[in-house]
Amino acid sequence: MTPLQTKRLILRNWEERDRALFHRINSEEQVMEFFPFRRDRAQSDSLFDSLRDGIVERGFGFAAAEIAATGKCIGFVGLYPAEYLEPFLPKDTIEIGWRLAPEYWGQGYVTEAAETHLAHGFGPLGFDEIVSFAVANNSRSTAVMERLGMRRDAAGDFDHPRVPDTHPHLKRHVLYRLTRADWQDEKRGG
Ligand SMILES: CC(C)(COP(=O)(O)OP(=O)(O)OC[C@H]1O[C@@H](n2cnc3c(N)ncnc32)[C@H](O)[C@@H]1OP(=O)(O)O)[C@@H](O)C(=O)NCCC(=O)NCCS
Repeated sequence: MTPLQTKRLILRNWEERDRALFHRINSEEQVMEFFPFRRDRAQSDSLFDSLRDGIVERGFGFAAAEIAATGKCIGFVGLYPAEYLEPFLPKDTIEIGWRLAPEYWGQGYVTEAAETHLAHGFGPLGFDEIVSFAVANNSRSTAVMERLGMRRDAAGDFDHPRVPDTHPHLKRHVLYRLTRADWQDEKRGG
């Protein structure tokens, strides 16, 4: 993945120095409120390796976001193949997702990074549609989707197959979609 630059951020593949931050965003209660699992360091490192290798192989993925002025990694934003959600979504679906350490919430970093990932996805990567989904009451996440101009597809809401029955309140997910045509209209201010 060639690093992408936004006004304040560098979006890039994971580096060894990001492992501690990555563990925090996979284990802290505040960040993981809408997820059924908390990862210990070994589980976090294993996911870290798999995300980093996936980005090398396919050229995109849940990428690290770093503040350009400080060099600090703040979490991830990125595009990801949502093939694990078949049959709820077609096998070739691309999702956009995000997770930041809480001290960086509320500063517009996620929307800024996501806008650049969408431009990369609809531009050089050539995707026709990008979706996003979240637990219905994860309003911080759905607010990002709405700021990006994504549209709710209520008919597409689904029970996430990776959420165990022990966490029924985290199962139902709302689906948002953005087509390349709608993204282009948004950019034109349509
Ligand atoms: C979901 C999550 C990524 C959203 O982060 P966020 O910081 O709220 O999102 P943004 O970066 O788009 O920031 C928007 C906020 O920054 C504010 N902001 C401040 N400075 C800004 C700037 N320069 N530009 C734009 N917005 C700015 C906006 O007004 C908005 O504030 P509000 O929440 O009070 O309305 C974050 O809460 C998170 O990591 N949650 C835990 C993990 C998670 O649930 N992930 C999603 C799973 S589906």
